[in-house]
Amino acid sequence: MTHPLRENLVSIANSPSDGPQSMPGGFYTDADLFAWECETILQTGWHCLGRADEIPNDGDYFTQQVLNEPLLITRAGADIAVLSNACRHRGMPVAQGAGNTKRHVCPYHAWAYAPDGNLLSAPRMKNTGFDPKTCALPSFPSRIHNGFIYASLSDTPDPFDLADLDALIAPYEPENFRHIHTAKEVWNCNWKALVENFMEGYHLSVVHPETLHHYTPTGLSRKGPSGAGFTSYFANYPDSAAGRGNGAAGLTDEERKRSTLFAVYPSQVVSVAATTLVSLSIFPINAEQIEVRWTLSTFGNELDDGILADRIAVWNEVNREDREKLETMQRALHSRHVTGGPLAGPDYEGTVHDFQKWIAQRSAELA
Ligand code: FES
Ligand SMILES: [Fe+2]
Repeated sequence: MTHPLRENLVSIANSPSDGPQSMPGGFYTDADLFAWECETILQTGWHCLGRADEIPNDGDYFTQQVLNEPLLITRAGADIAVLSNACRHRGMPVAQGAGNTKRHVCPYHAWAYAPDGNLLSAPRMKNTGFDPKTCALPSFPSRIHNGFIYASLSDTPDPFDLADLDALIAPYEPENFRHIHTAKEVWNCNWKALVENFMEGYHLSVVHPETLHHYTPTGLSRKGPSGAGFTSYFANYPDSAAGRGNGAAGLTDEERKRSTLFAVYPSQVVSVAATTLVSLSIFPINAEQIEVRWTLSTFGNELDDGILADRIAVWNEVNREDREKLETMQRALHSRHVTGGPLAGPDYEGTVHDFQKWIAQRSAELA
C-alpha cells in the first residue's frame, strides 16, 4: 500500500540534520496508516513484554495483549515461553492477569495446558483421531536480552541486533537489575507520540518542573548514539544534584551522573541510571490509544524500601505529567493546521529525527 503519509515521512526523514521537521498530525491520527503499521513494523518488530525476573519460578505467568494477539508469558522450568493465550478449542483466553499455576485451565470447557503450552487434558473429548499433542498453545519467537523479555508476532521477525546499544548500556549491567514494580494503564494517544515524548529532553524542564527539572534539566540533555534498531540520549544531572547511588562496579563517574534514555524500536522506551531502571512497553490499541505497561527495577540493595517507594511515586507522577500533555495534544493533532513544524537541535530532539529515519527506512524496505 502506498500511503501519502508514508511518502511524506520519507521526505521529512531525509531533511538535513540541521533542519529537521516534525510529522504532520495525520501521522498520529490516521486509521489507515495505523493499519499499515500493524501489518508491517509492529508485526515484524520485537516488543518488550516485561522483565524476566517478573516470573522467576516454575509456573509463574503474566498475560499481555499485543495488537490482535493475546499472549501468555510463562516460566516453564528454566525457560520462558511466549504462548498464544487463545484456547485451541474455541479461542477463549486460558489465563488472565498474572499468577502461578502448573495447569492453565480454560474457563470455557476446561481444557488444561501446562506452562510450556502442551495440552494436558481435554474433558470428554472422545472423538476418533483427536490427538492432544496437536493441540498445544502455539508459541511466538521470543528471547531474553538485558533481562528483558522480547517477542515478535511474526514467524519471520526483524533481525535482533542491538550490539551498539548493548555496548552503551553494558556498564549498568541491565541484566542484573531486580524487578520491583509493574503497572499498566491506557493512554489516549498515538504510540509514536509516546516514543517521541520519552526520547526527547526538550520538554523535561517545561513538563516536569517539580519531578525532573532539578535532576535532568533540559539544558543538560545530550544526544547519545543511535543505530539500526535504537536511539538514545543522556539526561545529565547538574553538579548540585545528589547522585543516584553507585550501581554496578564498572560505571564511570560520568555514567553515574546521568540517566541514559534509549528506545528499542518499535515500542520500548527505557531510562537506566546507576540504581534505577524504568522501562515502558507501548502496546498500540488503535491509532489514538495505547496500553502502557511499565516496570521499575533496582540494582543491588543500595536503595531501601522507602526510597524505592519514593522512586515509584515520582515515576507515577512523571508518567501522569506526560500523559496529560500527550492526551491534550492528541485531540489537537486532528487540526488541518498541524502540518509539521521545525524540530529543535540534536541534543534536544535528535532522537525524534532518528525515529523518523527508522520508520522511513522500514517503510521503504517493506513497500
Ligand atoms: S474454548 Fe477453551 S475449552 Fe473450550
Ligand atoms: Fe516526560
